[in-house]
Amino acid sequence: MATLSPAPHLAPRLDVLDARRVRAEFPIFERCRHLPLIYLDSAASSQKPRAVIEAMAGYYETCHANVHRGVYGLAEEATGRYEQARAAVARFIGAPSAREVVFTKNATEALNLVAFSWGRANLRPGDVVVLTEMEHHANLVPWLMLAEQVGVELRYLGITDDGHLDLSGLDAALDGAKVVALTAMSNVLGTLNPVRRVADAAHVAGAVVVVDASQYVPHLPTDVSALGADFLAFTGHKMLGPTGIGVLWGREAVLESTPPFLGGGEMIRDVRLDGFTPNELPWKFEAGTPPIAEAVGLAAAVRVLEGIGMEMVRAHEIALTSYALRTLDARFGADLVVHGPRASAERGGVLSFSFKDLHPHDIAQVLDQSGICVRAGHHCAKPLLRRLGVSATSRASWYVYNDESDIDALAQGLVACSELFCL
Ligand code: ALA
Repeated sequence: MATLSPAPHLAPRLDVLDARRVRAEFPIFERCRHLPLIYLDSAASSQKPRAVIEAMAGYYETCHANVHRGVYGLAEEATGRYEQARAAVARFIGAPSAREVVFTKNATEALNLVAFSWGRANLRPGDVVVLTEMEHHANLVPWLMLAEQVGVELRYLGITDDGHLDLSGLDAALDGAKVVALTAMSNVLGTLNPVRRVADAAHVAGAVVVVDASQYVPHLPTDVSALGADFLAFTGHKMLGPTGIGVLWGREAVLESTPPFLGGGEMIRDVRLDGFTPNELPWKFEAGTPPIAEAVGLAAAVRVLEGIGMEMVRAHEIALTSYALRTLDARFGADLVVHGPRASAERGGVLSFSFKDLHPHDIAQVLDQSGICVRAGHHCAKPLLRRLGVSATSRASWYVYNDESDIDALAQGLVACSELFCL
């Protein structure tokens, strides 16, 4: 059976993260040896270490059965693996109880669950939901749908010209607010938001705080209590885990007062022809057969990240971000505009930029010819891009397997773009 432990050489805590040794644990970097893969799109989806791939294969090879249903040994073993995964996630985010950890399909589904189930049960026409201008569509559209369907009023915290959340209007926005939903880290600007400060003010105003932590949990040590959230959503595939699994964490009391989202098997305690009784937490939110192998894979990813150490991950990304800002400034000066805060301690390892008059899609295609993967487009944050005055940006993002050589390759690739388009 595949082990859930981190690869042994990832486990020792070093002073500095050795990205080359980490990268050796990711089989995808062995492909195309004639053209090394320079993967700078982890904000969209991270690559997967061998430990995750093997944990999932091992689960299927040795102990798959449906969970919470069979009474035979194999089914109990599978159930045990699934619930151990929940406990691993709870530990990773400092959740007081695994009952507060709900497995979903992704962060988008987790945020939809909150808006749809908690929102419909608790919000009335005219109630105020406060959002920010830097939200991903996943934390905008569910609330826009609620505005259409229930008639809630949406208010927005803007951003400053240097890419921070503009808190000057916070008190006014919170007047009468029932919900504040914000990202902990912008997937475009990299901005790390003052979640605790906003949450404290929101709680004083009587609002529930929903945090989109999709770009935060994979990259920074996370303690849900310290953040002051009531709900927190993130996804597995951005944190070395598989696609198809996300997490909604909620404070137990808030989850208890939230009706089920999807109906079906597993989320019930009893079903009659005239009604049903929901199951206990967290299963009342997990209708149908859940993503079992994906949960096992996510637990393996958590163990790899714990083996490296999240403080180490964060320090590595600050160092790489500083290096990237210095390198790109020195090479391109005013020809390359970085969107978002300049101080690497105030941002994560996501760098969106505009380069000369080149279209981001052209840049991404030319970089691809050198094996460099970056994302180009609106990054599912169209209102933010309108605020920035651009229709698209190029975006490079890094993780535990990237090092300075990847940034150097990016800079060199941008020189090639400039030459190709004779700019
Ligand atoms: N939300 C992901 C991104 O920012 C897909 O790229």
